[in-house]
Amino acid sequence: MGRIAYVNGRFVPHGQAVVHIEDRGYQLGDGVYEVWALFGGRLGDAEGHFARLERSLSELRIDMPMSRRALTLVIREAVRRNRVQEGLVYLQVTRGVAPRDHGFPVPPAPPSLVITVSRVDRAAAEARAAKGVGVVTTPENRWGRCDIKTIGLLPNVLAKQKAREAGAMEAWFVDDLGFVTEGASSNAWIVDRDGRLRTRDTNANILRGVTRRTLLDVIGEEGLKVEERPFTADEAVAAKEAFITGAGSLVLPVIAVDGRPVGDGKVGPVAMRLRRLYIERAKATAI
Ligand SMILES: Cc1ncc(COP(=O)(O)O)c(C=O)c1O
Repeated sequence: MGRIAYVNGRFVPHGQAVVHIEDRGYQLGDGVYEVWALFGGRLGDAEGHFARLERSLSELRIDMPMSRRALTLVIREAVRRNRVQEGLVYLQVTRGVAPRDHGFPVPPAPPSLVITVSRVDRAAAEARAAKGVGVVTTPENRWGRCDIKTIGLLPNVLAKQKAREAGAMEAWFVDDLGFVTEGASSNAWIVDRDGRLRTRDTNANILRGVTRRTLLDVIGEEGLKVEERPFTADEAVAAKEAFITGAGSLVLPVIAVDGRPVGDGKVGPVAMRLRRLYIERAKATAI
């Protein structure tokens, strides 16, 4: 059985899932998205991702396409139809279909809703985590509202491609003061020389990662020291460990920054422990 997508009220074969050419997401990047990790066919960190979806939409004055309860049912049905246990749910809402014009359509168009489900090979993901990944740095060049999870991702696309061409997995944006803001699709962390965890505070222009938030709770419960304080790429290289977090990467050790080894250049115990604890927590609370 092939993949099934949800498009504006209908489940359709993935290959035939299309939106109108005047969808404002397609023409203007006028929309938002959200991604949930699936554990045993259930949504990880469900509440956090729904809350951020509602906030992103409200910041852009786009209506929720349906209630959170109804949306949960549709997502569950999409997961069921795709028979995916371990994977990702991608959900996108745009300001709908209207003749191209930068201002909001009058009268408002119904928001467009697309949901896709993809499979993740968790064994391969674990093998990757055990080896660690490299990141490259790139100048921060995004707009001033990175707290909104908008589908307008061109700087992130170019940053990710830069990483790929350098044989790295992720790119870290670095601001004018030399501090890492976040990854192209993840939040950035280090374990500094004193064993203290550090990640950028959310007053900075970054996405409030749901995985980041849950991990902060886990870290607190473990009694580890943590500071929401910026770090430079040099500090990451001098740190004991580094890692990234996100619904796609979960908690993923970083062993090199711009080709320079982080600490001793090996995957560290703190990142791997936090990965295990995060996954345990996400599995236990998935709905
Ligand atoms: C720019 C950016 N930062 C951080 C994250 C991590 O967020 P979350 O943990 O909610 O997936 C993402 C996820 O896609 C992202 O795109």
